[in-house]
Amino acid sequence: MELAKVSRFGMNTRIVSGPNVAEKVTGEEVAALGGKKAFVVTDEGVVAAGLVQPITDSLTGQGMEFAVYDGVQPNPTTEVVDAGYTKLREAGCDSVVAIGGGSSIDAAKAIAVLVTNGGKILDYEGLNKFTELPAPLLAIPTTCGTGSEVTHGAVISDKKRRIKTIVAGVAIRPKVAILDPTLLVTLPSPITAATGLDALTHAIESYLSLAGTPLTDALSLGAVELIGQNLRRAVANNDLDALGDMLMASTMAGMAFANSRLGIIHAITDILGGMYDVPHGVACAILLPHAMRFNLIGAAGKFARIASAMGEITEWLTPLEAAEMAVDTVASLIYDLGLPTRLRDIGVEEDGFSTVVESGMKSPHIPVNPRRPTPDDLMSVLRQAY
Ligand SMILES: [Fe+2]
Repeated sequence: MELAKVSRFGMNTRIVSGPNVAEKVTGEEVAALGGKKAFVVTDEGVVAAGLVQPITDSLTGQGMEFAVYDGVQPNPTTEVVDAGYTKLREAGCDSVVAIGGGSSIDAAKAIAVLVTNGGKILDYEGLNKFTELPAPLLAIPTTCGTGSEVTHGAVISDKKRRIKTIVAGVAIRPKVAILDPTLLVTLPSPITAATGLDALTHAIESYLSLAGTPLTDALSLGAVELIGQNLRRAVANNDLDALGDMLMASTMAGMAFANSRLGIIHAITDILGGMYDVPHGVACAILLPHAMRFNLIGAAGKFARIASAMGEITEWLTPLEAAEMAVDTVASLIYDLGLPTRLRDIGVEEDGFSTVVESGMKSPHIPVNPRRPTPDDLMSVLRQAY
């Protein structure tokens, strides 16, 4: 199947990484983007963990003013974004700093669009629906999962329609991403585990994508390797080196999938997440082994390389045995981390599956999945994961 006769790879985010870099460089990076008054988008938990103040001190150290909006909730809604924009206007800010997980970064991306384009966020639903360049945006992730700091979409929940929608365009990508593992040392283990599995799912789906290129493959397989080496240690004791490698892996996977798209897991979770308020990384973890088992015959050689990247010795195995080992090694990682393994245990209801399948089949991730799925196939994966 020839899907991508023309391939494009874009990445215009400057990445600054290392322990304590956020408090050292945020002020100068915002100043370099031309910001005079920064709007900090975050959530109450991140503020309570004491992560925001050293970063706002870095802003004041550059003679910069700022205002803090801590109203972001998981799976941010259109209301969260529109309220943030109202606060930004009241405070007179010209630039945006996101500190948090994917929810805060996505909300900040959407707010940055509104700063220069005005109106309500749903006016810009879809790809390239805004005309003015968004306000300068700097993203500081405090989890190691979404890759949102380098991707060109903002996922926003529309409660009225019970869907997650997207505001996307190359210009929405943050100008700077600051990867500082010290911001993750207080992260509760279940969050590290869940967001780490989101990153692993991005890496694996991107690596298997039919729209992948050697460039995205290098990033996604490199991310698989870093996650295999570091996620258990990051969850076990918040080891700073392991968290730093997980942050890098999450960003690498983001760079890959922003250019290759994903597969059936994200086709499903994009819909599931709008219908049920489930943690995205946990839903990915539950679906991943089942989706891999379905996809295996479409990309057995790549599955074998995933097993090797995860640290398995595969030389003595047949190619198919090596491919199957990739599924087993991912399942055992999920088991070791103590993540849920059934959709029924996280509040998903079986009677919603037909809606998930119908909407999921329209996803842009479906045509790049390594095995062409039918609606019955998606239903079967959902039932196995239930
Ligand atoms: Fe994801």
